[in-house]
Amino acid sequence: MNVDDCKRAAAHLAASLVKPGMVVGLGTGSTAAFMIERLGERVAKEGLKIQAIPTSEESTKLARAAGIPITTFADHSVVDITIDGADEVERKTLHLIKGLGAALLREKIVAQASRRFVVIVDVTKPVDQLGQRVPVPVEVVPFGYEATAARLEAMGAKVIRPRRHLTGELLTTDNGNRILDCAFGPIDDVQALAARLDGTVGVVEHGLFPNMATDVLVATEREVEQWAP
Ligand code: A5P
Repeated sequence: MNVDDCKRAAAHLAASLVKPGMVVGLGTGSTAAFMIERLGERVAKEGLKIQAIPTSEESTKLARAAGIPITTFADHSVVDITIDGADEVERKTLHLIKGLGAALLREKIVAQASRRFVVIVDVTKPVDQLGQRVPVPVEVVPFGYEATAARLEAMGAKVIRPRRHLTGELLTTDNGNRILDCAFGPIDDVQALAARLDGTVGVVEHGLFPNMATDVLVATEREVEQWAP
Protein backbone atom coordinates (compact mmCIF):
# COMPACT_ATOMS: atom_id res chain seq x y z
CA MET A 1 0.00 0.00 0.00
CA ASN A 2 1.28 3.46 -0.83
CA VAL A 3 0.50 6.54 1.27
CA ASP A 4 -2.66 7.34 -0.71
CA ASP A 5 -3.95 3.78 -0.17
CA CYS A 6 -3.35 4.23 3.58
CA LYS A 7 -5.17 7.58 3.60
CA ARG A 8 -8.06 6.02 1.66
CA ALA A 9 -8.28 3.07 4.08
CA ALA A 10 -8.53 5.35 7.14
CA ALA A 11 -10.99 7.63 5.30
CA HIS A 12 -13.27 4.73 4.33
CA LEU A 13 -13.32 3.32 7.86
CA ALA A 14 -14.21 6.77 9.22
CA ALA A 15 -16.95 7.23 6.59
CA SER A 16 -18.50 3.96 7.75
CA LEU A 17 -19.07 5.54 11.20
CA VAL A 18 -21.55 8.02 9.72
CA LYS A 19 -25.19 7.06 10.32
CA PRO A 20 -28.42 8.27 8.69
CA GLY A 21 -29.68 11.62 9.95
CA MET A 22 -26.28 12.81 11.20
CA VAL A 23 -24.86 16.30 10.84
CA VAL A 24 -21.29 15.65 9.67
CA GLY A 25 -18.28 17.98 9.84
CA LEU A 26 -16.14 17.58 6.74
CA GLY A 27 -12.42 18.15 7.22
CA THR A 28 -9.92 19.57 4.78
CA GLY A 29 -6.88 18.06 3.05
CA SER A 30 -6.01 15.05 0.94
CA THR A 31 -7.10 12.43 3.52
CA ALA A 32 -10.39 14.22 4.18
CA ALA A 33 -10.96 14.39 0.41
CA PHE A 34 -11.06 10.56 0.27
CA MET A 35 -13.63 10.59 3.10
CA ILE A 36 -15.82 13.17 1.29
CA GLU A 37 -15.66 11.08 -1.88
CA ARG A 38 -16.69 7.94 0.08
CA LEU A 39 -19.57 9.73 1.82
CA GLY A 40 -20.75 10.93 -1.60
CA GLU A 41 -20.77 7.30 -2.78
CA ARG A 42 -22.82 6.30 0.27
CA VAL A 43 -25.29 9.15 -0.39
CA ALA A 44 -25.67 8.05 -4.03
CA LYS A 45 -25.68 4.26 -3.56
CA GLU A 46 -27.31 3.73 -0.16
CA GLY A 47 -29.49 6.84 -0.11
CA LEU A 48 -27.68 7.86 3.11
CA LYS A 49 -29.41 10.99 4.41
CA ILE A 50 -26.92 13.38 6.02
CA GLN A 51 -26.19 17.07 6.14
CA ALA A 52 -22.63 18.35 6.17
CA ILE A 53 -20.73 21.37 7.46
CA PRO A 54 -17.47 21.67 5.50
CA THR A 55 -14.37 23.23 7.10
CA SER A 56 -13.20 25.11 4.00
CA GLU A 57 -14.28 26.44 0.63
CA GLU A 58 -12.26 23.62 -0.93
CA SER A 59 -14.18 20.93 0.98
CA THR A 60 -17.46 22.70 0.21
CA LYS A 61 -16.67 22.33 -3.50
CA LEU A 62 -15.76 18.65 -3.06
CA ALA A 63 -18.94 17.98 -1.06
CA ARG A 64 -21.13 19.68 -3.65
CA ALA A 65 -19.45 17.71 -6.45
CA ALA A 66 -20.01 14.50 -4.44
CA GLY A 67 -23.73 15.30 -4.00
CA ILE A 68 -23.58 15.77 -0.21
CA PRO A 69 -26.18 18.25 1.14
CA ILE A 70 -24.58 21.22 2.89
CA THR A 71 -25.89 22.91 6.02
CA THR A 72 -24.61 25.62 8.38
CA PHE A 73 -24.43 26.47 12.08
CA ALA A 74 -27.49 28.70 11.55
CA ASP A 75 -29.54 25.48 11.40
CA HIS A 76 -27.47 23.12 13.57
CA SER A 77 -25.49 24.21 16.62
CA VAL A 78 -24.21 20.68 17.30
CA VAL A 79 -22.33 18.45 14.87
CA ASP A 80 -22.75 14.69 15.43
CA ILE A 81 -19.41 13.64 14.00
CA THR A 82 -16.49 15.44 12.35
CA ILE A 83 -13.89 13.58 10.33
CA ASP A 84 -10.66 15.40 9.54
CA GLY A 85 -6.97 14.83 8.84
CA ALA A 86 -3.99 16.10 10.84
CA ASP A 87 -0.37 17.01 10.27
CA GLU A 88 0.99 15.48 13.49
CA VAL A 89 -0.58 13.29 16.18
CA GLU A 90 1.23 12.95 19.51
CA ARG A 91 1.14 9.23 20.31
CA LYS A 92 0.70 9.43 24.07
CA THR A 93 -1.83 12.28 24.32
CA LEU A 94 -3.48 12.42 20.87
CA HIS A 95 -2.88 16.18 20.83
CA LEU A 96 -2.72 17.38 17.21
CA ILE A 97 -1.06 19.89 14.93
CA LYS A 98 -3.36 20.91 12.10
CA GLY A 99 -3.46 23.66 9.51
CA LEU A 100 -0.83 22.92 6.90
CA GLY A 101 -3.85 23.13 4.58
CA ALA A 102 -4.60 26.62 6.00
CA ALA A 103 -8.11 25.63 7.17
CA LEU A 104 -7.33 25.46 10.90
CA LEU A 105 -9.80 28.14 12.09
CA ARG A 106 -12.91 26.59 10.56
CA GLU A 107 -11.57 23.12 11.41
CA LYS A 108 -11.32 24.07 15.08
CA ILE A 109 -14.76 25.72 15.17
CA VAL A 110 -16.35 22.61 13.65
CA ALA A 111 -14.32 20.16 15.80
CA GLN A 112 -15.23 22.02 18.97
CA ALA A 113 -18.95 21.87 18.12
CA SER A 114 -18.77 18.10 17.51
CA ARG A 115 -19.87 15.23 19.72
CA ARG A 116 -17.23 13.03 18.09
CA PHE A 117 -14.05 14.20 16.38
CA VAL A 118 -12.48 11.43 14.33
CA VAL A 119 -8.97 12.08 13.02
CA ILE A 120 -7.75 10.11 10.01
CA VAL A 121 -4.04 9.82 9.28
CA ASP A 122 -1.51 7.63 7.58
CA VAL A 123 1.44 6.18 9.45
CA THR A 124 3.71 9.18 8.68
CA LYS A 125 1.71 11.48 11.04
CA PRO A 126 2.16 10.02 14.58
CA VAL A 127 5.12 11.51 16.51
CA ASP A 128 6.48 11.18 20.05
CA GLN A 129 6.30 14.94 20.59
CA LEU A 130 4.38 17.59 18.64
CA GLY A 131 6.55 20.03 16.72
CA GLN A 132 9.07 17.36 15.79
CA ARG A 133 8.43 17.43 12.05
CA VAL A 134 6.14 20.35 11.25
CA PRO A 135 5.71 23.96 12.41
CA VAL A 136 2.58 25.20 14.16
CA PRO A 137 0.50 27.16 11.64
CA VAL A 138 -0.84 30.36 13.20
CA GLU A 139 -3.64 32.35 11.54
CA VAL A 140 -3.16 36.09 12.08
CA VAL A 141 -4.99 39.20 10.95
CA PRO A 142 -3.15 40.90 8.06
CA PHE A 143 -2.93 44.25 9.88
CA GLY A 144 0.34 44.45 11.77
CA TYR A 145 1.30 40.85 11.08
CA GLU A 146 4.96 41.89 11.34
CA ALA A 147 4.36 42.96 14.96
CA THR A 148 2.48 39.71 15.65
CA ALA A 149 5.37 37.74 14.11
CA ALA A 150 7.81 39.57 16.40
CA ARG A 151 5.71 38.59 19.45
CA LEU A 152 5.67 34.97 18.30
CA GLU A 153 9.44 35.06 17.85
CA ALA A 154 9.79 36.42 21.38
CA MET A 155 7.86 33.33 22.49
CA GLY A 156 10.58 31.12 20.99
CA ALA A 157 9.24 30.49 17.49
CA LYS A 158 11.21 30.63 14.30
CA VAL A 159 8.59 32.33 12.15
CA ILE A 160 8.37 31.64 8.45
CA ARG A 161 6.37 34.59 7.26
CA PRO A 162 3.80 34.83 5.78
CA ARG A 163 2.80 31.64 3.97
CA ARG A 164 2.63 31.77 0.18
CA HIS A 165 1.03 29.55 -2.44
CA LEU A 166 3.39 27.39 -4.52
CA THR A 167 2.94 30.06 -7.22
CA GLY A 168 4.60 32.59 -4.90
CA GLU A 169 1.37 34.51 -4.33
CA LEU A 170 0.63 35.52 -0.71
CA LEU A 171 -1.82 33.08 0.88
CA THR A 172 -5.13 34.48 2.13
CA THR A 173 -7.20 32.07 4.22
CA ASP A 174 -10.93 31.48 3.67
CA ASN A 175 -11.40 34.05 6.45
CA GLY A 176 -9.27 36.75 4.83
CA ASN A 177 -6.26 36.25 7.12
CA ARG A 178 -2.58 35.27 6.80
CA ILE A 179 -0.76 32.17 8.04
CA LEU A 180 2.55 32.40 9.92
CA ASP A 181 4.21 28.97 10.24
CA CYS A 182 5.93 28.90 13.62
CA ALA A 183 8.66 26.32 14.25
CA PHE A 184 8.91 25.87 18.03
CA GLY A 185 10.77 22.55 17.82
CA PRO A 186 9.53 19.69 20.01
CA ILE A 187 6.83 21.12 22.31
CA ASP A 188 7.09 20.05 25.98
CA ASP A 189 3.80 21.54 27.18
CA VAL A 190 1.26 21.73 24.36
CA GLN A 191 -1.56 23.13 26.49
CA ALA A 192 0.60 25.89 27.93
CA LEU A 193 1.79 26.93 24.46
CA ALA A 194 -1.80 26.82 23.17
CA ALA A 195 -2.87 29.12 26.01
CA ARG A 196 -0.05 31.58 25.24
CA LEU A 197 -0.97 31.65 21.55
CA ASP A 198 -4.65 32.12 22.49
CA GLY A 199 -3.60 35.17 24.50
CA THR A 200 -1.51 36.80 21.76
CA VAL A 201 -2.97 39.92 20.15
CA GLY A 202 -3.29 39.56 16.38
CA VAL A 203 -3.54 35.78 16.53
CA VAL A 204 -6.94 34.62 15.30
CA GLU A 205 -6.33 30.90 15.90
CA HIS A 206 -3.52 28.35 15.88
CA GLY A 207 -3.02 24.77 14.77
CA LEU A 208 -2.53 23.18 18.20
CA PHE A 209 -5.56 20.97 18.96
CA PRO A 210 -4.98 19.60 22.49
CA ASN A 211 -7.49 17.12 23.94
CA MET A 212 -9.89 17.40 21.03
CA ALA A 213 -9.68 14.09 19.14
CA THR A 214 -12.10 11.43 20.39
CA ASP A 215 -10.79 8.82 17.93
CA VAL A 216 -7.66 8.60 15.81
CA LEU A 217 -7.60 6.14 12.91
CA VAL A 218 -4.01 5.42 11.83
CA ALA A 219 -3.60 3.53 8.57
CA THR A 220 -0.48 1.39 8.38
CA GLU A 221 0.50 -0.86 5.48
CA ARG A 222 -1.41 -3.76 7.04
CA GLU A 223 -4.39 -2.35 8.93
CA VAL A 224 -6.16 0.70 10.29
CA GLU A 225 -5.38 1.04 14.00
CA GLN A 226 -8.00 2.72 16.18
CA TRP A 227 -6.61 4.91 18.98
CA ALA A 228 -8.65 6.62 21.69
CA PRO A 229 -7.58 8.96 24.48
C1 A5P B 1 -5.89 21.46 6.82
O1 A5P B 1 -5.82 22.77 7.25
C2 A5P B 1 -5.11 20.57 7.75
O2 A5P B 1 -5.44 20.71 9.08
C3 A5P B 1 -5.25 19.14 7.28
O3 A5P B 1 -6.14 18.44 8.07
C4 A5P B 1 -3.93 18.54 7.34
O4 A5P B 1 -3.03 19.39 6.64
C5 A5P B 1 -3.87 17.14 6.79
O5 A5P B 1 -3.84 17.13 5.41
P1 A5P B 1 -3.50 15.82 4.59
O6 A5P B 1 -4.60 14.86 4.86
O7 A5P B 1 -3.49 16.30 3.15
O8 A5P B 1 -2.18 15.33 5.04
